[in-house]
Amino acid sequence: MNDLNAIVESAQLAFAQAHAPADLENAKAQFLGKTGRITELMKGMAALSVEEKKSRGASINLAKQAIEAALNQRRQQLADAELQAQLQAEALDVTLPGRQRGQGGLHPVSLTLERIESIFGSMGFDVAQGPEIESDWFNFTALNTPQDHPARSMHDTFYVEGGTAEAPNLLRTHTSPMQIRHAVQHVKKYRAASQVQAEGLFSGDMPEIRVIAPGRTYRVDSDATHSPMFHQCEGLWIGQNVSFKDLKFVFTDFCRTFFENNDLVLRFRPSFFPFTEPSAEIDIQFPSGPLAGRWLEVAGSGQVHPNVIRNMGLDPEKYIGFAFGMGPDRLTMLRYGVNDLRLFFDGDIRFLSQFQ
Ligand code: DAH
Repeated sequence: MNDLNAIVESAQLAFAQAHAPADLENAKAQFLGKTGRITELMKGMAALSVEEKKSRGASINLAKQAIEAALNQRRQQLADAELQAQLQAEALDVTLPGRQRGQGGLHPVSLTLERIESIFGSMGFDVAQGPEIESDWFNFTALNTPQDHPARSMHDTFYVEGGTAEAPNLLRTHTSPMQIRHAVQHVKKYRAASQVQAEGLFSGDMPEIRVIAPGRTYRVDSDATHSPMFHQCEGLWIGQNVSFKDLKFVFTDFCRTFFENNDLVLRFRPSFFPFTEPSAEIDIQFPSGPLAGRWLEVAGSGQVHPNVIRNMGLDPEKYIGFAFGMGPDRLTMLRYGVNDLRLFFDGDIRFLSQFQ
């Protein structure tokens, strides 16, 4: 009997010393496994008489049950401990301060572009996008800009590799090439639909072209009010009966809405652009505030030149309209009272975050 008690005690001790499930299973094998001590005792009963077997067997069974009970208890303890440890490890301290995620916002010039798009959108203008690497044809030639025009000089324009000597590629110096690109697509679409006129300048009927084209533009220029990369937004309205008075109405309405000031005064000052005739520079004047009384130039504009209308694929006897090109950077400076354009492109968060 004593030997059995000793075995049970040593099993209890071995189980208590097992701190991981694998250790516990090893310890179990020492007692209950094929060559375990209890199993060996069972085997040893073969030589006993029937009477002896009965009482010895019962005692061994009791010891075995005691060992199994100790084993199960320890298994449960280890499982509980593991669960506790896991809960501890995954515990959330809800009293810790939250982690801040820096929130981004739109650049002030992007805010202006969105504003321009929504105002012109409300007047029925589409928005078109085009390439920043442009060909000589779209940037100059198609816009009636002659070979000897100063804008074509190396000093004013970033030429890039890839074109030919007669037709170099360049970073577009304005968004005006989008007038041609967009109109050509528009005409193509309605020429295909009209069936009447397959070739030549189109003089059939089509819906009006009404579009703005905002985007980045480039010139060799850099000071407080000029940046080598800047933004422009082109506007184009072509139809059968679109006049300069429509230009005045549309642009006046735009400026007053943009600056939220119905007393804003506009001046259309005669000027020259190769792609418009007549041409006008558009100045605005605030009735009050820090800029009151000064004429501020915001756009170039004019009635689209017949040669440009032709390059759009349209018959200038039938189609007429106006175009304008404005500077969203300038509009942003005026709207927020910023006096150095370069601030917009330095990427200083302290400056940019003020517009959110
Ligand atoms: N493209 C001209 C520039 O960059 C601006 C301009 C003038 C655009 C007259 C126009 C226009 O559409 O009609 O200086």
